[in-house]
Amino acid sequence: MARICVVGLGYVGVVTGAIFAEMGHHVVAVDVIPEKVDALNAGESSIYEPGLDELLKDCVPARFNASMDMVAAVADSDITFLCVGTPSTTDGGQDTSYLEASSKSLGEAIAAKGEYHVVVVKSTVLPGTTDTLVKGGLEAAGITCGEDFGLAMNPEFLREGSAVQDAREPDRVVIGGFDQRSIDETAELYVGIGCPFVETDLRTAEMIKYASNSFLATKISFANELSRLCEAVGIDVYEVMDGIALDNRIKRSFLNAGMGFGGSCFPKDVRALVSLANSLNLDSALLSAVLDVNRSQPLHGVDLLEAANGTLAGKRIAILGLAFKGNTDDVRETRALPVAEELKKRGAVVVGYDPEAAENFKAMFPDIEIVGSIHEALTCANGCIIQAEWDEFRELSADDVDVMADKVVVDGRRIVEDVDGLEESGAIYIGIGLGSIE
Ligand code: UGA
Repeated sequence: MARICVVGLGYVGVVTGAIFAEMGHHVVAVDVIPEKVDALNAGESSIYEPGLDELLKDCVPARFNASMDMVAAVADSDITFLCVGTPSTTDGGQDTSYLEASSKSLGEAIAAKGEYHVVVVKSTVLPGTTDTLVKGGLEAAGITCGEDFGLAMNPEFLREGSAVQDAREPDRVVIGGFDQRSIDETAELYVGIGCPFVETDLRTAEMIKYASNSFLATKISFANELSRLCEAVGIDVYEVMDGIALDNRIKRSFLNAGMGFGGSCFPKDVRALVSLANSLNLDSALLSAVLDVNRSQPLHGVDLLEAANGTLAGKRIAILGLAFKGNTDDVRETRALPVAEELKKRGAVVVGYDPEAAENFKAMFPDIEIVGSIHEALTCANGCIIQAEWDEFRELSADDVDVMADKVVVDGRRIVEDVDGLEESGAIYIGIGLGSIE
């Protein structure tokens, strides 16, 4: 079994470390934030992710520990995964400052160790980052790529909310390498994972990650644009998507029209590709349109609510689901934010409920009344928007909406199961992309 070091105790680092430990490897994670290190060593994850706590319980401390000492962690391992964040810069590009800093300290640790070590970039980085910025950062310590250390790029395809499952059963493992040795030593860690392996060069691996996320984001914006057309001509876009997905060349996933895509990945990654294209004087009409549709879709949800209510001024409106999707407490780029801002702008009083993300959302948008249940959110409300796919919203019932002052439900994720029951109770149900012929 291998000895692995993981740099960065964020989302990707914790899940990657835990899964490698579950596979029997020995993992030490390094972070500069003492609270994150202490939490992991206590077997606690600082993120909400189904199945992760149980996993940590099984492998901490026997096979998974955290430390702030990079030199010691590298000395005790043979391969290091860089899992630090690469957030957006103000112009949509990628901020590589964490990656640069960690590459430099990793290089110094490898030089101090004086033995061959493989470095694997897992952070999402634009093509050309690993073989320039990361390689340069490592070599600043006087070591040479291909001789003193190997270099690979192994992008991550985990979805928040199902990360543990995705990591256990990936669709594919992509490994780009500076040389074959780097690829082989990285691939060895995944022995036993039954999925296709893609071996490629560093830049191709980097681009595969961006292309995957951008393509999925494009599918969503396509479904969202079509949903407005369907609404206008009395068609259900979900039926249309089911119909096209029977063509083997099209898959049904990520064609759910809704309130748009959020999270720490799709918006950031599409913006980064647009920014890369711009910097190379290349056209990015399609990806720019993907972002445009995503900007207007949540406002469209508010328009639907306003059309049913007459006006939103002075109305009490509940947002059900504040996270960027169900099963997570993550509010980064959540579509609940543009919805809440637009509701405020149109004069509504905004109340919000989310099983996990309420506090995080309140910190970002304080001008909201946070409540602890669907019942409280809907009491005396003049309308509601379902923004995230939590299971409890699927079961929205006639009893739930009975406490509303005006029973107007905009199902921004098309998840309500008993639509007939709601309508029979006198509620106005408006599903995104569900056109009805009057
Ligand atoms: C996404 C990718 O799915 C992962 O493969 C990738 O590893 C990850 O980004 C990343 O780059 O780290 P994630 O952001 O966790 O994962 O969430 P998704 O499940 O992909 O959903 C993203 C957004 O799209 C959510 O706001 C969701 O509500 C929305 N969505 C998704 C739709 O509006 N319609 C759909 O049909 C599917």
